[in-house]
Amino acid sequence: MVVGSIHADFYISVDRFPQVGETVIGLGFSVFPGGKGANQAVGCARLGAETFMVGAVGGDDIGRAMVENLKRNGVVVKHIFVDRSVHTGVAFILLNTETGDNMIVVAPGADNSLKPHHVEKALEEEAQRVRTLLVQLEIPLETVYAALRKGKELGLTTILNPAPAKPLDESVYRYVDVIVPNRIELEQLTGATVKSLDDVFRASEILVKHGVKAVVTTMGSLGAALVAQDVKKLVKAFRVRVVDTVGAGDAFCAGLAVAIGENMELEEAVRFANAVAALKITRQGAQSVPTRAEVESLLEKESTST
Ligand code: RIB
Repeated sequence: MVVGSIHADFYISVDRFPQVGETVIGLGFSVFPGGKGANQAVGCARLGAETFMVGAVGGDDIGRAMVENLKRNGVVVKHIFVDRSVHTGVAFILLNTETGDNMIVVAPGADNSLKPHHVEKALEEEAQRVRTLLVQLEIPLETVYAALRKGKELGLTTILNPAPAKPLDESVYRYVDVIVPNRIELEQLTGATVKSLDDVFRASEILVKHGVKAVVTTMGSLGAALVAQDVKKLVKAFRVRVVDTVGAGDAFCAGLAVAIGENMELEEAVRFANAVAALKITRQGAQSVPTRAEVESLLEKESTST
């Protein structure tokens, strides 16, 4: 079950970002489905997991199209709440075609309408079918906390992607099995300076002391650093041609959640997630997540070439 945001992403591609007060002429415009929650849900479904999305949209055409898109991708949408008093969440994204970098502004709209009782009800109703719970931070924090607490109470494996970074109440960590920050989010959560791999390991241990069982820090082209009770390791990224990194972290989280749900060992799960993220960034759109067959073929190819 994925609990989180649902957006439409409005992309303008540019060959350089504007400075403050400057207008630049873009190279192209496109609209893609997005939102960290929806991206992760589509990713999980495409990788073969039965996936329930818990989120909120407005009573507008964008909301209807985004729910339709989730359905088309095989995600169960019966726990998506429609709040007719607000707009569906949207993101404006500048994509730099020279560097692959991006800048994103989100107007959350209906994301903020998702309340603890929506999530608790969905979890109670699906308790027999759900094994893994995946949550990010584009919805109200009280809803995030309620989801993790309820998920643990029901015996699920809980995964928190603390993105975008927000200060968290330390007491929440005892409800988190696996946390998946990027380097900047890890800095913000721990207050530690995180520049090198050793810094990542040290900062991760702070979260482990707070009660998290495993910390998986995404490190872009380097890969992902895994810290758990008996392991401290960088799992290397796959080398690919970068087209669009928007949603790379979401694709990674989806891959990790599916792999953990299938009881893969953590290190193997991180490698699987790396492959999912690598294939995603070769295509434009936050939900251009590969299929299971594509991921397996990359893993196979890499293991025979090393
Ligand atoms: O992680 C990428 C996502 O962040 C985009 O799809 C955008 O909607 C924002 O939520």
